[in-house]
Amino acid sequence: MRQQVSGSLMHKVERMMDDDRTPAIATSSCVPSAAEISAVAAVLRSGLLRQGPSVERLEREFCARFGARHAVACASGTAALHLAYQSLLCAGDEVLVPALTFVATASMAIAAQAVPVACDVDADTWLIDLRDAERRITPRTRAIAPVHLFGNCCDRAAIERFARRHGLAVVWDAAQAHGARWRGQDVAAWSPLVCFSFYATKNLFTGEGGMVCTDDAALAAALRSRRSHGQDADGRWQELGFNYRLGDVPAALGLAQLSRFDAMAERRQRNADRLRRGLAGIPGIRCQTITIGCEPAWHRFCVTVDEDALGVDRDGLAAHLAARNIATSVHYPRGIHQEPFFVRRFGCTSLPVSERIGARILALPVHHDLGDEDIDRIISEVRRCHRSECGRR
Ligand SMILES: Cc1ncc(COP(=O)(O)O)c(C=O)c1O
Repeated sequence: MRQQVSGSLMHKVERMMDDDRTPAIATSSCVPSAAEISAVAAVLRSGLLRQGPSVERLEREFCARFGARHAVACASGTAALHLAYQSLLCAGDEVLVPALTFVATASMAIAAQAVPVACDVDADTWLIDLRDAERRITPRTRAIAPVHLFGNCCDRAAIERFARRHGLAVVWDAAQAHGARWRGQDVAAWSPLVCFSFYATKNLFTGEGGMVCTDDAALAAALRSRRSHGQDADGRWQELGFNYRLGDVPAALGLAQLSRFDAMAERRQRNADRLRRGLAGIPGIRCQTITIGCEPAWHRFCVTVDEDALGVDRDGLAAHLAARNIATSVHYPRGIHQEPFFVRRFGCTSLPVSERIGARILALPVHHDLGDEDIDRIISEVRRCHRSECGRR
């Protein structure tokens, strides 16, 4: 869990998780397999720790597995977004971003001297709402950065139609969507730029790490150069660049993990299906609506909690689950437009759907190391919370 959980709730959850009456169910699992540990150890023994052959192989095999034409590995999903924005945008350009997302979708636009414009999200899919986005178009709007939130992918055709109509570039934030597909098309193969994160809790993890995919060879070359200080093949510094390289040690972990990616994805899918079936009909619990045509990646399984119908609010349900050793987390408690940095910079905006979801959302565990019995325990505790009205004040 990162800072998305409010401080007091986080403490309460951690205190309650110390209670060991029942096995703990965590929100994510990032335990490397024995094969992954051996692969990492082999690179450590080789002494080749910097960006090298393992990074090149990870890029090739990522393309082969996820259908991308070019893949450029980098230090994080945040670095991936910065590189992507920097390759398309000029100072003062505006980028439409959904309000309900991780901060980097917006903050990296600022890092590229552009201006993120927060848009509201759809009340059901929780993805960028194009009707709201349309109202925020100005003569300076140059791009849109849709986020495949929690692994639920956007309707590609609708976004591309919108982008064409308004002359915008698209930067897809797929940090949470490894392996997600829409109408059979893997999100890594979309164009022109798709950004992934390999952060420790992600569906494919290297601890820290990221990848930018593109179908454009010239863009791929520019991204490679900027990932390493903007240097060209002759060793000259041609552009503003950074040290956003990935090392061979995390790359070896990612490579080894690719071979169990399908098994992990299937387990997430099975867990999500079971959660959806089991939670259906519990008053006050609403699941994310999956985009028509999408095969989601189930990075997170989030619900919204209606206090009047469940008898307890989001924090009350989280505390009830924590007392039974079931961890939860809040992604995201506020829209980015409500974060102090954005309020100070861009002033106050009202995005009611994002704000309503942020106040009610809770992520339940869905990860690849959970079995049917864990999922059944989560479902029965949510149901019990309703029946006992555990938090009724
Ligand atoms: C939607 C989204 N975008 C971008 C990022 C940034 O990725 P990283 O943490 O690897 O920098 C994340 C990571 O949490 C994310 O969830």
